[in-house]
Amino acid sequence: MKHLLDVDELSREQVDALLAQAGAMRRAFDAGRRVRALEGVRVALLFAEPSTRTRLSFEIAARALGAEAYVLDPGGTSLVKGESLADTCRTLAAQGIGMLVMRHHRAGAASVAARYFPGNVVNAGDGWHAHPTQALLDLFTLRGALGSDDLRGRKVVIVGDLLHSRVARSNAWTLTGDGAQLWVCGPPPWLHGWDRLAARLPVTDRLVITEDLEAALRDADAVMALRVQKERMRGGALSLDEYVARYRITPERMSTAHPGALFMHPGPTNEGVEVTRDVIRGPRSLVAEQVRNGVPVRMAVLAALARG
Ligand code: NCD
Repeated sequence: MKHLLDVDELSREQVDALLAQAGAMRRAFDAGRRVRALEGVRVALLFAEPSTRTRLSFEIAARALGAEAYVLDPGGTSLVKGESLADTCRTLAAQGIGMLVMRHHRAGAASVAARYFPGNVVNAGDGWHAHPTQALLDLFTLRGALGSDDLRGRKVVIVGDLLHSRVARSNAWTLTGDGAQLWVCGPPPWLHGWDRLAARLPVTDRLVITEDLEAALRDADAVMALRVQKERMRGGALSLDEYVARYRITPERMSTAHPGALFMHPGPTNEGVEVTRDVIRGPRSLVAEQVRNGVPVRMAVLAALARG
């Protein structure tokens, strides 16, 4: 494994190995034990889009492995002077950067970087395309909360802005690959293109695409809400009020899922829009656990790339 650009390039065995490694990393991290997998490696974090949890968790993960982590402010790099991404990659390599963790608003940007950067590239989110480490940490969190080694026989629902969501796209691969029955649910304009994605999945009969939230929630073991990007609702086929009325995750709606169903959200959340505050903070919410697992899962990814 040279780069991590998306989860679709990982075999089931590789996913299992990474998550097993993440478990070991979590134990070491919690015990304050040092893991020196990246001793002397220079890691650059180039986030050309806002981020709190993803960027910080990569920085903590790199340092916890003994690496030197450098956070670049893209607004303060030569990218704004018109330098191409390819030249930025060459520049970083010439300064001894061995790993590049990158977030970009353009789908495919991480693959472009991987072509020009001689070290390892980790995609920390590229446009609508992919967010592989989020999908890995979601799977790790869900398996942990359910106390099982895989998601066979489980029903998972992803609700919300599926059109713009790289998180949902990457999750579709890992959740169905792990045996879950995945339902993706939202207003029809946001389900556009999901039939094509479904056809590309290795196991095609594990994905259901629906606008019917009631059917999606019935007997679900876990419900993941996605951030509704309010700015994208303007002039759209659907108003924000209509979305909230039809799709917001509330305690009443959660009660129609499997008893004890878990709630997930990749964050950041819009409280009161895609989900109510009491669900986010409720006893079945995994939101804080997802954030917490971001560090060990990213430690596992960085260590695996360092090993090659
Ligand atoms: C998401 C992202 O940026 O892709 N957040 C995250 O990384 N945890 C989701 C979002 O922005 O809505």
